[in-house]
Amino acid sequence: VIRAIELSRQLGLMQEGGFLLKDKFEFAQDLIRQAVTYVRNRMTEDLQIEEKTRFDDLVTNIDKDTQDFMVSRIQTNYPDDYILGEENDLYHDVKEGHVWVLDPIDGTVNFIAQGRDFAVMIAYYEEGLGKFGLIYDVTGGNLYSGGGQFEVTCNGKPLSSYQNRPLFRQLLGANGRMYADNYLGLADFAQELLGVRVLGSAGISMSRVLEGQLFGYCSSISPWDYAAASIMGEKLGYELLTMTGEPLDYKSRQAVMFIPKAEVARVKKVIHK
Ligand code: IPD
Ligand code: CA
Ligand code: CA
Repeated sequence: VIRAIELSRQLGLMQEGGFLLKDKFEFAQDLIRQAVTYVRNRMTEDLQIEEKTRFDDLVTNIDKDTQDFMVSRIQTNYPDDYILGEENDLYHDVKEGHVWVLDPIDGTVNFIAQGRDFAVMIAYYEEGLGKFGLIYDVTGGNLYSGGGQFEVTCNGKPLSSYQNRPLFRQLLGANGRMYADNYLGLADFAQELLGVRVLGSAGISMSRVLEGQLFGYCSSISPWDYAAASIMGEKLGYELLTMTGEPLDYKSRQAVMFIPKAEVARVKKVIHK
């Protein structure tokens, strides 16, 4: 048994405290399912809506309560881990220690205005290295999970790596305002594609990239918006960069592009500096 534990440690499968990463990944899948059930059960309540930075940056009591629900389960099961959560001022640098990144409801405006097309997201890092990510498209009923040592799947079905296709046969996902403002030439670039889709949830947009249904996604987003997709995307041949082509800081809101690695050089040429 001791030799098996030693071998697991050397292979990076077992962590400090004796936790297997595989068990943590299973815990995370369980946790996201429970969080989704929690949100579904409370969706018909009257929502308490607050404005954060501006009138269209909203949060509800359900966003906050869902995050609290996830935080308490993580703290009970992994008391030494840290949490970076969107709500309730829960900040921790992903580069330090074992860190869970949570977005309890991604697409809160969709949640409030349409009752559909929103996601719950979880990502997990060790010393800045993404180990796995999960995106649950709640009303679509799709759970995307994997990355790192785990295969990327949708509802258990493996997703394929990026398949090269002509740009004029592919769609681009984008933030509506950045597209309308032609931010760094985004609208000019979009003319090379079949069209643009503005879905209102970074997580759902990036899950469509992972599925091969969107060529890429450009938006102004924060670590909890992009962490899960970025970990899964790395495994499938996608890269997440700022729109000017630099690595992200994993701290602030930044204008990003999530695109196939093989197309980065080509996209950089058309995005204005
Ligand atoms: C927002 C959504 C939206 C994106 C915003 C995000 P939230 O997340 O993903 O699509 O355009 O920038 O902040 O606030 O609903 O979790
Ligand atoms: Ca979000
Ligand atoms: Ca959110």
